[in-house]
Amino acid sequence: MHFLDLKDFNKSQLRTILKAARTRKQARARLAQGELDADQPLKGKIIALVFERPSTRTRFSFEVGIRQLGGDVFTASGTEMQLGRGETVADTARVLSRYVDAVMIRSKKRETLQEFASAATIPVINGLTNMTHPCQVMADVMTLEEKNGTLDHNKVAWVGDGNNVCASWIEAIGILGGEMNIGCPDSLVPAAEFMTWAKAQNAKVQVMRDVEAAVAGANCVITDAWVSMHDEDIENRHNLLRPYQVNEALMKGAAKNALFMHCLPAHRNEEVTDGVMDGPYSVVFDEAENRVHAQKAILLSCFGKL
Ligand code: CP
Ligand code: NVA
Repeated sequence: MHFLDLKDFNKSQLRTILKAARTRKQARARLAQGELDADQPLKGKIIALVFERPSTRTRFSFEVGIRQLGGDVFTASGTEMQLGRGETVADTARVLSRYVDAVMIRSKKRETLQEFASAATIPVINGLTNMTHPCQVMADVMTLEEKNGTLDHNKVAWVGDGNNVCASWIEAIGILGGEMNIGCPDSLVPAAEFMTWAKAQNAKVQVMRDVEAAVAGANCVITDAWVSMHDEDIENRHNLLRPYQVNEALMKGAAKNALFMHCLPAHRNEEVTDGVMDGPYSVVFDEAENRVHAQKAILLSCFGKL
């Protein structure tokens, strides 16, 4: 089974993945990073990671996670493949399906991921597109729940660009519950399809321009880069988003002890100040660690092993 977007799953499926992620994390608490999980459930499986965009976390967390599960992995960038010279996405997917047992792809465009998944005969995992980043948000929900209890008892505030990570967060709230305020400028609201979907789920997701109102009472404040990898209007975005910086003053308006989350990479003192990034309620490095645990569970779900 593919893992393309959170909205393709129901609550019990996402809960199963989150539970497995937590159990596996706990089970290897005393193991060194390179030691394998005792059961090695991906023994004999080989997985390809394909990147059309740069990556630190997604790449290494998948590589480490796959090895811990007893599987094998290799990584290539789109430009070093014939894909970069015009071989079709579908043909690439058909060929890789003859070599490996699953593919994670980070594609520039959502359509590439969709085309790849339609032609592949093996599970395909979304490692970020211009539209969504579901693996990230599974790790984010896992992190929030470790500290604050289940998502349905939380109110999160998304501050800044209504981008790909924000879109997957909307889907998480729509399926798992909870409340989400999105504080963003009018021209950077989330794509209409995500808000329409959220409305159809009766999800408690609201967009507001006033950033203070968005964070009021939130027990988790989340932001992301002002300029994502697919964005080009750099100066315009900086101008629009400057009032949406997450700083100590903004955090004061959130609930007491509110967490701060960021998928990273962070642009320190742009979308978030050092004081918040390095402050007592920042869980950004737990989030980064949890990419490994969450993705191991995602992989097991794709292979029907949960
Ligand atoms: N958060 C995240 O996906 O980071 P990378 O771009 O480093 O993979
Ligand atoms: N929104 C960011 C996330 C990076 C992990 C981007 O797409 O560049």
